[in-house]
Amino acid sequence: MTDRHPVTVVGLGAMGREIARVLLEAGHPTTVWNRTRSRADDLVARGATRADTVGQAVAGSPLVLVCVLDYAATRELLEPVAAELAGRTVVQLTTGTPRQARELAAWAAEHGIAYVDSGMMATPPMVGRPGSAFLYSGDEAAFSRYRETLELLGTARWFGADAGLASLYDLALLSGMYTMFAGFLHGAAMVGTAGVSAAEFAADAGDWLRAMTGSLPHAARFVDTGDYTTDVQSVEFNKSALDVIVQASRDQGVAADLVAPIQELLARQLAEGHGKEAFDRIIESIRPRPA
Ligand SMILES: NC(=O)c1ccc[n+]([C@@H]2O[C@H](COP(=O)([O-])OP(=O)(O)OC[C@H]3O[C@@H](n4cnc5c(N)ncnc54)[C@H](OP(=O)(O)O)[C@@H]3O)[C@@H](O)[C@H]2O)c1
Repeated sequence: MTDRHPVTVVGLGAMGREIARVLLEAGHPTTVWNRTRSRADDLVARGATRADTVGQAVAGSPLVLVCVLDYAATRELLEPVAAELAGRTVVQLTTGTPRQARELAAWAAEHGIAYVDSGMMATPPMVGRPGSAFLYSGDEAAFSRYRETLELLGTARWFGADAGLASLYDLALLSGMYTMFAGFLHGAAMVGTAGVSAAEFAADAGDWLRAMTGSLPHAARFVDTGDYTTDVQSVEFNKSALDVIVQASRDQGVAADLVAPIQELLARQLAEGHGKEAFDRIIESIRPRPA
């Protein structure tokens, strides 16, 4: 397989357009389709082939990348063209749940379509640039066949034959990202009550959060061993810190919606008698209990 085989991109939103552009610039004959036709104009001007229908689009290439809003839209587009897709590879870049990925993989298998699911750890300007990572799982032979092409979009990381794994990992990373940004916004609201701008706070928050990420392997050791024995950063100690943060927020007129759930998880661990154990034990309150 050369790196210049034809490729089709279905969905030219913010991400799909960048993906098609990167593939086109790398020399792949690129067929594009989008519900709103005009969104393909720029790519067509640069040499992409416009397909008038999804059926025409998928018939153009052995590799079909789908990047639309959600899985419902994906199914709406792909189900009517299952026969044309047989024998081809679909890489689903659209964000969805692991269950949706597994269901789509099962549908693809029934129709003789090779299916690879993906989680895109990138924003549109990052596509094809350093720092972009795309996570994949599903049909390993199809992934290996097109890996070189997929590497154009960002570092291609393989997670295994269970089509749901890329999405699971993607959503786990996004959970970390969302809670980090939410925490920053809570802090910005707090210092904002003293007239500090978010920009000023961002510099300090960035330094602090970067320093804190160094402790992730330490936290992971507690979780992986199930041994939360510690003589620092106990549940008790952190519960008292969260009590102060929640109270200070409210005193300043800032709602505690973002920090109060952490206080609540610590309170639960304390009530269950784990006050002397590590903060990281709050994971035991949220993860499934062994059957
Ligand atoms: N943007 C990001 O930073 C980012 C990062 C990682 C993952 N993602 C995921 O990537 C996917 C695409 O994101 P995006 O940022 O490109 O979104 P977007 O700019 O909002 O584009 C959405 C695309 O989906 C199409 N679409 C929506 N409903 C459709 C339907 N029923 N039938 C056919 N086409 C439909 C839209 O077509 P029209 O042009 O006709 O509206 C458009 O091409 C999403 O699942 C998103 O969660 C995005």
